[in-house]
Amino acid sequence: MNPSPVNKTGERVENGAYLSELDFTRFQMRVPTERYTSREYHERERHLLWMRIWQVAGRADEIPDPGDWMEYRIFDQSFVLVRGKNGQIRGFVNACRHRGNQLCQGRGKTARFTCPYHNWSYGLDGRLLAVARPDYEGPLEEFVGAAKHDLALRSVPVGCFGGFIFLNPDPHAAPLADFLGEVAELLGPYHLEEMVPVGINVRESLNCNWKVVMDAFQEGYHIQGIHPELIPAMDESRERYSFFGDHSVATAPFGASNLADISTEAQVAAIRELPATFPGVVAVLPRFEELVSEHRGPGGEIAFADGITARRLLQQATRETLTATGLDVSALTDDQLSDNQFFLLFPNFFLTIRAGEATFISSVPHPDGDPNRCIWHVTGYMWFPPEQRAEVRAALVDEPRDFEYFLALQQDYEQMQRQQNGLRQRGLEHMTLTRQEVRLAYFHSVLDSWLEGNASR
Ligand code: FES
Ligand SMILES: [Fe+2]
Repeated sequence: MNPSPVNKTGERVENGAYLSELDFTRFQMRVPTERYTSREYHERERHLLWMRIWQVAGRADEIPDPGDWMEYRIFDQSFVLVRGKNGQIRGFVNACRHRGNQLCQGRGKTARFTCPYHNWSYGLDGRLLAVARPDYEGPLEEFVGAAKHDLALRSVPVGCFGGFIFLNPDPHAAPLADFLGEVAELLGPYHLEEMVPVGINVRESLNCNWKVVMDAFQEGYHIQGIHPELIPAMDESRERYSFFGDHSVATAPFGASNLADISTEAQVAAIRELPATFPGVVAVLPRFEELVSEHRGPGGEIAFADGITARRLLQQATRETLTATGLDVSALTDDQLSDNQFFLLFPNFFLTIRAGEATFISSVPHPDGDPNRCIWHVTGYMWFPPEQRAEVRAALVDEPRDFEYFLALQQDYEQMQRQQNGLRQRGLEHMTLTRQEVRLAYFHSVLDSWLEGNASR
């Protein structure tokens, strides 16, 4: 018999392997600590990874109109992202073609870029428009000794996916679609491009290597140690793992998936607790309560028919509520309406997502060049109808002092910097990963292949 057809891409993740089904001879479970602290290793990452790989440089809705621009920096390299007259976003090396002056800093809106040093100016498409030459009467080509069209700003590859702007510092990079591969199909049904930052949107320097951040969000093993309050919400034992190119995805039932084994009242109570961690559930609860009440007996007690659980009712309420507000969830599976899928797009794009909401976490090496530091960026995303997006949008909080993250994130924030202190100890040569940290093992193998120059892209 043929296997049943996979109609929804979410099923590919839901049918991923259990830990017991993975071939662990493929995974390198010892990771040298030197890669978190060594300047020499950091330099290799800079040249062999960061200067060659697609990376998130911002959100497309940060530069919504023609002429809107913003700077993206990685190490000491600076790029300008600008939306052109035709709506297309382009990326340029942030250096004037005359004597290399940095063109701009931060973000803004302009009709043209004029270099403040000698006033050369460039269009939104990067073309050289004019050269100031107050005392020279001859043609521009004669004045500068080169053809005008050869003096456009240096461009870099830029692409958009899910509302994110990706940039690759390598002018010869393969297309973004090749880099994303199957992940683009897996994320498509969530309509991430229609989500806006809500609640948290913070960028802050941390005293740890950028990989400490990425490691921390690729395993649920530390829930028992530092997030005990999340234990009831996650079912780690039923986590599924999938690997797509350099990237990986995991999913685990949430909201007490073993609901069928506990009392109906306890199931419903567990769902009511979810908004503390997943704010998107708030909007769904009224419909959920209506559905629950349909199952109440004469004495008010809840009696679910066979096959009904509070989890199922949460999924139904989520589908109905989001559809009524205008979000097309038709391509999402029932499980995607309750459970999170945890995406890691190598090297620094982490996203936990369920219908209508997501949390994005990324980290980059600190521009000061110290491998013991990085900058992380945490953003909550939620889907809202277009007319409500402006009012709910959370502005970026840049380098706050003493920012209070929500509980689980505050726990991670403190833990990651403690870990770096240990990784700096010269007497410890390597980390020992458990099987539950298999995605870290995969991540570090992918990193190795990039640093050995074997990455096939
Ligand atoms: S360096 Fe830009 S105009 Fe001279
Ligand atoms: Fe954590």
